[in-house]
Amino acid sequence: MGQCNRCNQWNTIVEERVSAEQLKRAKSGATNSKKATNLIEIQSAQYSRTQLHDKELQRVTGGGLVPGSVILLGGEPGIGKSTLMLQLALEFEGKPVLYVSGEESIEQIKMRADRIGSPKGEVLLLAETDTASIQAQLESLQPGLCIIDSIQTLQSPNLDSAPGTVSQIREAANELIGFAKKNQVPMILIGHITKEGSLAGPKLLEHMVDVVLQFEGDRNHVYRLLRSQKNRFGSTAELGIYEMHGSGLRGVDDPSEVLISRRDDTLSGVAIGTLMEGARPLLIETQSLVSTAVYGTPQRSATGFDSKRLNMLLAVLEKRCGFRLGTKDVFLNITGGIRVDDPAIDLAVVCAVLSSSEDIPIPSKYAFCGEVGLGGEIRTVSRMDQRIREAAKLGYENILISSFARLESKHPGINIIPINRVDQALAQLFG
Ligand code: TYD
Ligand code: MG
Repeated sequence: MGQCNRCNQWNTIVEERVSAEQLKRAKSGATNSKKATNLIEIQSAQYSRTQLHDKELQRVTGGGLVPGSVILLGGEPGIGKSTLMLQLALEFEGKPVLYVSGEESIEQIKMRADRIGSPKGEVLLLAETDTASIQAQLESLQPGLCIIDSIQTLQSPNLDSAPGTVSQIREAANELIGFAKKNQVPMILIGHITKEGSLAGPKLLEHMVDVVLQFEGDRNHVYRLLRSQKNRFGSTAELGIYEMHGSGLRGVDDPSEVLISRRDDTLSGVAIGTLMEGARPLLIETQSLVSTAVYGTPQRSATGFDSKRLNMLLAVLEKRCGFRLGTKDVFLNITGGIRVDDPAIDLAVVCAVLSSSEDIPIPSKYAFCGEVGLGGEIRTVSRMDQRIREAAKLGYENILISSFARLESKHPGINIIPINRVDQALAQLFG
């Protein structure tokens, strides 16, 4: 059928074949029904997690790999998923690691491994897409970790639809998850996500696996973020930051240090904002360039920041502070190729724009932290103390925050300047 008779959309119907085994299972019904158990009678399971050398991965997984757990690592093509996983395999000690690739030949993987380093333990490579032969290998090798690159390329002999289709992905994942649980082997499945996020596979997989990690970043920048979107064994507030080098990915211990360029004081349009990425405070540089529009319609462009929000902030400046920005081109850039969603960066954005517009540099040693409301008021944001502490740690001497903020502790190392409106920030900075 070309058109769905429920939602009337075209070409949305996907073929799904039912295997003979599935039919048999469905017909037999739930014969071996289970009894409920009282919660207090159940022994709490003690996981002995496999510790990882990669500090970022160790933190994001919630303290290492749980036996039998299945992790889905999603990300756009070319972001570095295979590199990250190969690195993990090379650093893995103890039992051997099985790295299954359905995309690259073992020679290609070997070439990449040569760039990254030498294996600490035993790394076994397998170029295979058939789930039955992968399972056979798993059974005979009993590895300490299995990595599948990628789940979209696998094909189960139980179904005859093409690899990458919803039913194939589900069947292949089901088989592998079953193996992982039965043999208590941690398993990592790599999943591709297209730019539009349209692939049904990984979305459906998210429900089946224990942990969902997302690898993201701008391919043209060196920084990559590893976020946890779901974790049955830990917090999802953790974040890992990596730098892509010629010899693989390197964890970034002190992200704030690298996200702020060693700037000279004479540059206008630069302001330092504070943001939370998961549970980690970060200081980040926002750069703005404001110039008179050459063409009729002024351009507004933002990299790493929501352009609708930039327009809103510009409207606030225009309406509440009387800045004529309507005829100006405004460009905004968050350094490091990182995308910021935290509204705490607003104040830094506004100050960067004004600094460029007036062509007066913001004195160094100033950091900013606050959300800007539609009335031009500065609002308080979450985890204020942590952000201020991070700014003080990095040597900032002054921080502008909302006067509504309730701080839990004193911060002797830094001068806190409470403001409640955007105009007060201006008076503070430019006199
Ligand atoms: P890759 O891991 O193949 O991405 P994915 O599996 O997510 O599709 O790596 C993508 C890019 O990383 C590739 O274009 C080249 C780059 N790269 C480096 O810059 N340094 C390295 O050491 C390696 C291995 C890759
Ligand atoms: Mg890859």
